[in-house]
Amino acid sequence: MSPGKIKGMTVLGLETSCDETAVAVYDGSRGLLGDEVFSQFDLHRAWGGVVPELAARDHIRRLLPMVKATLAGAGTAPGDVDGVAYTAGPGLIGALMVGAAVAESLAYAWGVPVIGVHHMEGHLLAPMLEPDPPGFPFVALLVSGGHTMLVEVAGVGRYRILGESLDDAAGEAFDKTAKLLGLGYPGGAALAALAEKGRPGVFEFPRPMLDRPGLDFSFSGLKTAAVVAAKDRALDEQGRADLARGFEAAVVDTLVAKALRALDSTGLDTLVVAGGVGANRKLRADLAAAAARRGARVHYPRPGFCTDNAAMIAYAGYRRLSAGQHADIAIRARARWSLDELAPVA
Ligand code: KG4
Ligand code: ZN
Repeated sequence: MSPGKIKGMTVLGLETSCDETAVAVYDGSRGLLGDEVFSQFDLHRAWGGVVPELAARDHIRRLLPMVKATLAGAGTAPGDVDGVAYTAGPGLIGALMVGAAVAESLAYAWGVPVIGVHHMEGHLLAPMLEPDPPGFPFVALLVSGGHTMLVEVAGVGRYRILGESLDDAAGEAFDKTAKLLGLGYPGGAALAALAEKGRPGVFEFPRPMLDRPGLDFSFSGLKTAAVVAAKDRALDEQGRADLARGFEAAVVDTLVAKALRALDSTGLDTLVVAGGVGANRKLRADLAAAAARRGARVHYPRPGFCTDNAAMIAYAGYRRLSAGQHADIAIRARARWSLDELAPVA
C-alpha cells in the first residue's frame, strides 16, 4: 500500500459486543461512507434484558448479510477494503466472538490487516466523526449501559481512568428503574421521556458519592432508593412521572458534578460525552449550562453515535491501522478489558 493509500485507507468496522449488530465503512480521505445498525430490542424485550446466547445467535444470522449490504450501500467492493476492525471487548463473550470470527475471516480472505478495537475507545473517539471534532487533550465522560467512567484522553490510546462506577453503570440504573416503572427494556430513553412530565422536588433522591472526594460513581443505592420509594406509595401516572424526574435529576446532578470535578483536577477545558446515556436531554442541557459558566466546551457525537454503532469502531480501527498497528490472524474477544491497557498511537 502506498503512503497516500495508508492515510486514505478504507476500513470496514464491525460491532457485536452486546445487542446491536452494526457495520460501517470509514475512509481516511472521504470520511464515513456507510453505517448500518440493527437493534435486537424485539428479541430481548420479552425477557426484560439482553439474553447473551440469543444475542450471539442473532449476530451470526445478520452480520454477513449486513456486511454485504453496507459495502454495497457505500459504493465499496470487497477489493476496496484496506483493513478490518472489530470490537474485541469488553462485552458479552459469545456476541464478541461472532464479530471477531467474521472480521478475522474476512481479513484473511481479502489479505488485509485486521485489528480488535476496545469498545470504549470507540465510544470516546465517536465525536471525532462530527464536523467540529474536539482536540486532544480532553476529559471523556463515558456513560453507557455497561460503563460509567471519566477518562483523561491525551491522544489515541493514551488514556488514564480518573474514576468509574463501583457497581451499576448509569444506563443500567436507568434501565432497572425504568423496568420498575413498567417502561419495558431498555427503558432509559422512555424513563427520560416520562421524567419530562414529572414535577421537580416531589421525589428527592440522594446524589451518590458527591460528599466524598474522588471521581468514582455508585448508582446501585440510588436504584434501591427508587424501589423503596415506589413501594411506599401507590403511584398513579403523575406519581410515576414525578419519580422518574427525581431519579433522573439525581443521576444527572451526580454526572455533571463529577465531570466538572474531573475538569478541575486535570486542568482541562474540553469535555467529551459519549455512550447511550449521553443522548439524555437533561444531561446535555445541564452540562451545557455548567460548562458555559466555567468557559469549558462540551462535545457529543450525534445521538445515533452515542449508542452502539460500528462507525466508531471503523474510525478507531482506522486510526490504529493507518498508524501501522495490526495483529496476527487470531480470534480476539475479551469480556473484560481495561482502557488503561491499550497501546498508544503515535
Ligand atoms: O452505549 P449503549 O448503546 O450501549 C452500551 O454499550 O451499554 O448505551 C445504552 C444505554 C442503555 O442503558 C439505555 O437505557 C441508555 O443508554 N439510554 C438512555 C437514554 N438513551 C439511551 N439513558 C438515559 N436517557 C436517555 N435518553
Ligand atoms: Zn456501548
